[in-house]
Amino acid sequence: MTRYAHITGWGTALPEHVLTNHDLEQMVDTSDEWIVSRTGIRERRIASPDQTTASLAADAALAALEHAGVKPSGVDLIIVATSSPEHTFPATACIVQDIIGASKAGAFDLSAACTGFIFALNMAAQAIRTGSIDTAVVIGAETLSRIVNWQDRNTCILFGDGAGAFVLQGSEEPGGVLEAVMHADGSGADVLSLPAGGSKIPTSADTVAHGLHYVHMDGRPVFRFATRVMAEATREVVEKAGLTLDDIAIIVPHQANYRILEVAARGLKMPMAKFMVNLDKYGNTSTASIPIAAVEAAEKGRLRKGDKVVMVGFGGGLTYGALLAEWTGPFEDKPPVKPERIRLLARLRSAGKRARRKILNLPVGDEKLGG
Ligand SMILES: CC(C)(COP(=O)(O)OP(=O)(O)OC[C@H]1O[C@@H](n2cnc3c(N)ncnc32)[C@H](O)[C@@H]1OP(=O)(O)O)[C@@H](O)C(=O)NCCC(=O)NCCS
Repeated sequence: MTRYAHITGWGTALPEHVLTNHDLEQMVDTSDEWIVSRTGIRERRIASPDQTTASLAADAALAALEHAGVKPSGVDLIIVATSSPEHTFPATACIVQDIIGASKAGAFDLSAACTGFIFALNMAAQAIRTGSIDTAVVIGAETLSRIVNWQDRNTCILFGDGAGAFVLQGSEEPGGVLEAVMHADGSGADVLSLPAGGSKIPTSADTVAHGLHYVHMDGRPVFRFATRVMAEATREVVEKAGLTLDDIAIIVPHQANYRILEVAARGLKMPMAKFMVNLDKYGNTSTASIPIAAVEAAEKGRLRKGDKVVMVGFGGGLTYGALLAEWTGPFEDKPPVKPERIRLLARLRSAGKRARRKILNLPVGDEKLGG
């Protein structure tokens, strides 16, 4: 029997704090007009001090699991794609596994910069299609605000924090993840990187003094690369699936820069209306940008059951790739999880047992009952 990997639940976690371009005008020599005209970004979210990559990832995962109607104990695999992990090791995914109580899940991180979510989704789908596992949670999560130099106007205006998660479930019903292409060009590794903190340049007082623990980027080559590969990867995945661009209902691209998307749309001879864009609100959230945009598209009715969607990304590495899916939605009809519910799940997650009982209005006292 052929098995298929369906996207059956989704969720996001977006910090409440909004940093606008006007706020940035007070921090570096820039202007709202410059940022909007060069990138399309107007504002981004910034994690609060108690939020981390793992906590945002866990919030998004819990929302996605609730949406899919799957208990954490039913998850076989958690993959967190991230460029700003909780630590170098252990994997952020392991911390998420503990927070959400996915007691039987294997967990690992995937590092492919902003393309990471595409690669992770493809890996999880392949594991489901081969019958190795049945249920996976794939998460893109970032706290880029922690690794960006807030005095470097070339980079700090671009990035934001957030997380998005998909639940993938196996079924014999055709649909779900249909095809993917994954590419890398390591000759461009130095144009977008975090230079220090690894085995080549271990952290030292000197690396900190020179700001090598922050994101470094040469914007123009990244821009040229991105405009070339987005259309290329989209065409490749569509052809590989035996379809044409006319079959595609919507493109959900990595949300880096509006001008990059315009060039890609021209290259594909597709109207911008076919592209889901929300980078004006969130900036570039790296691995999280594609799931955050896909969830918004689904919630706004732009991505419906049966639609063919191409998710396409590019980023540091350099990496790029695209994934074509037939959108499924929960196996049992369920509305998206409301923001208030996600906030409640987040409070429950971070509260101790006693506080958890209070939030749920349960009698406090017998701590053994908590959980
Ligand atoms: C970063 C990026 C927006 C810069 O836009 P650009 O049109 O290429 O701008 P340039 O780098 O040519 O810089 C033009 C001028 O603006 C200045 N500038 C750079 N950042 C600025 C800012 N935030 N505000 C005002 N001026 C700025 C530059 O210093 C330069 O000044 P100069 O001409 O006096 O030297 C663009 O290169 C880009 O989007 N690259 C891709 C980045 C990306 O997507 N990265 C993530 C990939 S996942």
